[in-house]
Amino acid sequence: MERTLSIIKPDGVARGLIGEVIKRFESEGIRIAAMKMVFMSKAQAEGFYAVHRERPFFGSLMDFMTSGPAVVMVLEGENVIAKNRELMGATNYKEAAEGTIRRDFATDIEKNVVHGSDSPETAEFEIGYFFNKLEIVG
Ligand code: CMP
Repeated sequence: MERTLSIIKPDGVARGLIGEVIKRFESEGIRIAAMKMVFMSKAQAEGFYAVHRERPFFGSLMDFMTSGPAVVMVLEGENVIAKNRELMGATNYKEAAEGTIRRDFATDIEKNVVHGSDSPETAEFEIGYFFNKLEIVG
């Protein structure tokens, strides 16, 4: 069993896509082990995306991620890191495969509806960033 962090970003929440995204996870047999809504502060968003600090899009990404509430979830299942990334599709929705969340709903490379951890190490950091042990239902 593996765990990963999923975020329904502010664009997804504002556009009423929470249910749609969760439905896609659940219908693939992915279990939601924790979930909450967060309205990230600048400091919280900066800490979460610290690896991207030097990227040219960082400032804009911070404005976007702090523009409204997001839903953060711990997803659990076999190979769930890869499975979630498959369901999301490529970061750039124009390159995302048909039927993926980003291909179906993203509006630009930044406003791409969802985030998912990209490796076991990242997942551990990202889950711990938003959830303590007691909040994750085993
Ligand atoms: P995410 O998978 O959450 O990781 C970093 C985020 O930065 C990405 O999704 C997008 O929302 C945003 N972003 C904006 N521009 C770019 C870009 N050119 N390349 C990668 N990510 C970008």
